[in-house]
Amino acid sequence: MRRLFPVPDQPASPASTEEPGAGAAGATGASRDREWSLAELAAAYAYPEDAHAGRVPWLRANMVSTLDGAAQHDGRSQPLSCAADMRIFGTLRALADVVVVGAETARREEYRPARARREFAAARAAAGQGPAPAIAVVSAGLDLDFSLPLFTSPAVRTLVLTGAAAPAGRVAAAERAGAAVVVAGDGGGVDPARAVRALAGLGHTRLLTEGGPRLLGQFVAAGVLDELCLTLAPMLTAGDAQRIAGGPSVEVPRRFALASLLEEDGFLFSRYRRP
Ligand SMILES: NC(=O)c1ccc[n+]([C@@H]2O[C@H](COP(=O)([O-])OP(=O)(O)OC[C@H]3O[C@@H](n4cnc5c(N)ncnc54)[C@H](OP(=O)(O)O)[C@@H]3O)[C@@H](O)[C@H]2O)c1
Repeated sequence: MRRLFPVPDQPASPASTEEPGAGAAGATGASRDREWSLAELAAAYAYPEDAHAGRVPWLRANMVSTLDGAAQHDGRSQPLSCAADMRIFGTLRALADVVVVGAETARREEYRPARARREFAAARAAAGQGPAPAIAVVSAGLDLDFSLPLFTSPAVRTLVLTGAAAPAGRVAAAERAGAAVVVAGDGGGVDPARAVRALAGLGHTRLLTEGGPRLLGQFVAAGVLDELCLTLAPMLTAGDAQRIAGGPSVEVPRRFALASLLEEDGFLFSRYRRP
């Protein structure tokens, strides 16, 4: 793994090789191709201070795309990923209070509870976080299998985000399984901006969404996406796979600014933030 942006602008010092997240000097050390520790990745992907301190929510998305824009292959994102992508995926989860995911992704990717990982335990405790992020499944119909470990045996209680008109029987089933149902919409669906506010109200300000495209498109359209961590996989798939964000297009394209770019084995790991 090496950093391509910010562009290194001064010679490496011995100390700089240890801290890729520490500005220009750190970027220099990080420009050498070498395996980054999880602590280094965590420093590079730290949430902004205001979100870290619980003052404002910060919604980050983590997605992977092929060169030709496919967000899945054979219905899953795993064929587009690689070992470094999975390390970043795990690090982003370890930094988050909650992982927000669309029901279709939870169903197709057979979501399980996030793991409490020893490597991140001390940092999470110091940051006032539980042992693992909660998973928050966004669903209108609640056609979810509530007998799965995602709902019955997570390290941290799973949330179900839905609208006020969600089927009462399914809400009761979710609650019986142990999930916390959070209403974030007046109709059947969730209002994306209200979902962010509701999660912040529960003390979750370090937000991570893992899509899928239909959910991410709504966060984009609502103007509540603060950051996109996008892995560009050096692959072409053709076909008619979804892009990383779907739904109705926004009136004016939303401009983001490049915050960092890492590379390993031809995969590019970009981080774009709302300016
Ligand atoms: N490339 C990547 O990084 C990446 C990441 C994630 C997923 N994926 C892929 O994307 C595919 C799935 O994504 P998708 O876009 O089809 O689905 P999705 O966004 O994961 O989930 C769509 C479902 O979420 C619920 N939902 C979405 N918006 C809602 C709202 N405003 N209110 C209430 N519920 C809402 C609905 O669930 P109900 O039907 O239960 O009401 C809807 O059917 C899979 O193939 C997966 O592998 C790729």
